[in-house]
Amino acid sequence: MRQVPLEKPFFALVGQGRVGRALAAYLSAQQLPHRVFARDSFLSEILSSKTNVRAVLLAVSDSALAGVGKVLQSSELPIVHFSGSVRLEGGYGFHPLYSFTERSVGPEEFAHVPFLCDPGHARVFREIFPELGNPVYELKTPRDARYHALCVLLGNLPLLIQDRAARALHSDYAVPREACLPFLQSLLANFASARQMQSVPVAGPIARRDALTTAAHLNAVSSDPFLQALYTLLLEETWPEYPLTPKEIHP
Ligand SMILES: NC(=O)c1ccc[n+]([C@@H]2O[C@H](COP(=O)([O-])OP(=O)(O)OC[C@H]3O[C@@H](n4cnc5c(N)ncnc54)[C@H](OP(=O)(O)O)[C@@H]3O)[C@@H](O)[C@H]2O)c1
Repeated sequence: MRQVPLEKPFFALVGQGRVGRALAAYLSAQQLPHRVFARDSFLSEILSSKTNVRAVLLAVSDSALAGVGKVLQSSELPIVHFSGSVRLEGGYGFHPLYSFTERSVGPEEFAHVPFLCDPGHARVFREIFPELGNPVYELKTPRDARYHALCVLLGNLPLLIQDRAARALHSDYAVPREACLPFLQSLLANFASARQMQSVPVAGPIARRDALTTAAHLNAVSSDPFLQALYTLLLEETWPEYPLTPKEIHP
């Protein structure tokens, strides 16, 4: 006689860090059965309830992925991880292109998170998670170090620059952090409205080719090497022919 499973099939989720917590809340909101497994007992527990496991979701640190994945390989269960840099033999990598921090990411927010995967794997995502409507994008070539380096730049560099500038505005001019928000939101809106992969036009004195103001800015930030380097880079990228000699600025 065929054995009847006692429980509904569920996702076995390992890891309750930044991604794991958000994912657990999302699965709960979608009413998708899942069980969170503790770090020290997940292997034996997952293997013993194998028949009811839809897939193992490894939301663990990149450094732990290889070891954890290797042991689970023998289970023949679908294994999913979320790393943008690690490749796991026998596992599927669905990289959420998003920044998860200690801030809680609610289910509504999570529903917009896109997953990026290797060529041919979008179909697998839909098979493993047919209930989830998240966008899934297949990369043209498999993930590699360059792909991940670009994601790190995309996610971290703007924040670093904005944070440094906002803190200087606060400390030197008492501009509250929240006063910067609408400005930053407008930048995102500009990015979103730019036509496919067209570069977003810069605004301000550089866009107006105002050499006098630009020279004054460069002088004003010269005491802070970080800000000076940023301003110079901005100039080189957006106004390469900027007149650099004093004669050209004050004809
Ligand atoms: N954070 C992001 O913005 C982001 C974005 C895209 C992709 N990802 C990917 O998502 C995955 C998880 O990242 P995260 O940011 O959530 O990391 P995290 O906040 O550092 O959490 C890592 C989790 O892994 C657990 N863990 C570590 N070693 C383990 C082991 N040997 N066995 C079982 N559990 C172990 C940790 O448990 P303890 O707490 O007990 O140490 C913790 O719950 C990574 O592959 C990461 O690359 C992260």
